[in-house]
Amino acid sequence: MSNLMLPGLVDVHTHLRVPGGEHKEDFTTGTAAALAGGITTVLAMPNTTPPLTTPVVLEETIQKAQHSILCDVGLFAGASPEQIEGVIELSRYTVALKIYLNDTFGPLRVEDLPTLNACFRLWPRQKLIAMHAEGQSVAVGIGLAAAYQRPVHFCHISRKEEIELIAAAKAQRLPVTCEVTPHHLFLTEADADRLGPLGDMRPRLATAKDVAALWAHIHSTIDCIATDHAPHTLEEKQSDGPPPGVAGLETSLPLMLTAVKENRLDLDQLVKLMATNPRRIFKLPLQPDTHIEVDTEAEFSLSNDELQTKCGWTPFAGMNVVGRVRRVVLRGVEVYKDGQIIAEPGSGQVLI
Ligand code: DOR
Ligand code: ZN
Ligand code: ZN
Repeated sequence: MSNLMLPGLVDVHTHLRVPGGEHKEDFTTGTAAALAGGITTVLAMPNTTPPLTTPVVLEETIQKAQHSILCDVGLFAGASPEQIEGVIELSRYTVALKIYLNDTFGPLRVEDLPTLNACFRLWPRQKLIAMHAEGQSVAVGIGLAAAYQRPVHFCHISRKEEIELIAAAKAQRLPVTCEVTPHHLFLTEADADRLGPLGDMRPRLATAKDVAALWAHIHSTIDCIATDHAPHTLEEKQSDGPPPGVAGLETSLPLMLTAVKENRLDLDQLVKLMATNPRRIFKLPLQPDTHIEVDTEAEFSLSNDELQTKCGWTPFAGMNVVGRVRRVVLRGVEVYKDGQIIAEPGSGQVLI
């Protein structure tokens, strides 16, 4: 066994489904999945029911989190045209603002320029703006970053033309960063055909050419690996109107360590993408006395049977990987060991 010590990983894109989607995931099961995946900090998305767009909903959600989380959690505020005048108040409860420019799960959307302008004028400059932007919406986000001279983070970039546009923006020193998901690095539209609704998410899986372009930017343009952990129940996925989204917290590290073994990625770069960069970009606090231990020689097949996530399935089931998380220590306390969650609900901290 080869024991690799890494810092606690940071996932800046997780759907923990509280409030309103607790049958898919809740704060305890979602943060248990994070720990099992070697992740000690997650940022939770605001497309909940109701969405995280008002102080009242945010206050209630933080109270629930304080009783139930097993690792550290920061919340995103959601931008919406109806609540835009009050957006600055939401910054008191959250680490960043999320703007949805394109269709995805839930109704949160910003499709008008006055609301976008207001977001960039009103949201405090010391906190980040993140965008769900696909295709030409990426150019809209880059334009806003340039015009307002403030950082924009692009979620789940998945297409060749998108990553190339972001590379061009970075070459001009524009303040943009981006994340890529493991599913867009390891699956293509051929897998979408094979998996049916279990391979459907937004952005959709792309072509082999797009995937190759993402890998070509893995040591340069890409700043973070983020899971976009978006659990839905199998029943929902097998229904007539399946919602988009797949789980990812527990499969992300083994997939990326497999890429290291195959020499597609340096271990140093893995640590930057999964810990150092996300913490710096979102200005998240350091976690003292925190690390994870990984058996890098453990080879295994990803499986639905060993998951902590409430949804209980992964699109990667059957895939052979290396790298098993053996132990997680958070602030000096052992919180995960060999498949067992040890942390007590409420032992994580809510980040603001
Ligand atoms: O596939 C997705 N599912 N993409 C998103 O942007 C949202 C997510 C969800 O909340 O289920
Ligand atoms: Zn999204
Ligand atoms: Zn998402």
